[in-house]
Amino acid sequence: MVRSHPIYAALYDRLNNYAEVDWLGRARQWVADRSKGTVLEIGAGTGMNMVRFTDVDEYIACEPDPAYRRRLLRRVPESRVPVRVIDCPAEQLSLPDHSVDTVISTLTLCSVEDPARAVSEIARVLRPGGELLLFEHIRNGRLLQRLCTPAFRLFVGGCRITRPTLDTVRAKGFQVEVIDSLELSGATSVMAPFVTAVAHLPGDPA
Ligand SMILES: C[S@@+](CC[C@H](N)C(=O)[O-])C[C@H]1O[C@@H](n2cnc3c(N)ncnc32)[C@H](O)[C@@H]1O
Repeated sequence: MVRSHPIYAALYDRLNNYAEVDWLGRARQWVADRSKGTVLEIGAGTGMNMVRFTDVDEYIACEPDPAYRRRLLRRVPESRVPVRVIDCPAEQLSLPDHSVDTVISTLTLCSVEDPARAVSEIARVLRPGGELLLFEHIRNGRLLQRLCTPAFRLFVGGCRITRPTLDTVRAKGFQVEVIDSLELSGATSVMAPFVTAVAHLPGDPA
């Protein structure tokens, strides 16, 4: 059972407005441009990635929190590609094995309850040669980040800012290529670095 965050979901787009026209928007566009075929987004939120796809066969939005899902569904008419919304958690994807070409996770593996299980599920649903595209903030080892963790969890929709997400992905057998690592100034710096990465399972066709 995923905990709902109705207040944070209601504020989400407004809180991110400044970043959407800057670094966050650029990261989303990279993810959308790199995605191919059948695309699954885990934790699709309010649909800020959904509206950027132009050239994929289908976009499947996994969103278990009804507060986010309502907003996502309102945005579906803005999508330029076919959309399917599923309400399962990333830890238990209601999709067949090897049915997806691209999985995307942007600012989500920090929030799921069991990231290791979610990554196992991603590996299960990806087709051979498929890609996991990540834009996630990760543990930076600094004391300030550790001190701020409880406040983020409470006020930022259950987000855990000290997660070693790339290590979690590697531990499930993925080879991870980091494309970019972004340090930020101001309040958001405590969450940094924000990494853009692509992950493949070994043995996949190049
Ligand atoms: C910070 S928001 C990011 C939303 C979106 N990916 C984006 O880039 O704007 C975190 C998202 O993770 C979702 N989430 C939390 N737990 C989850 C789980 N177990 N499985 C899938 N999504 C989950 C939340 O409902 C929310 O939509």
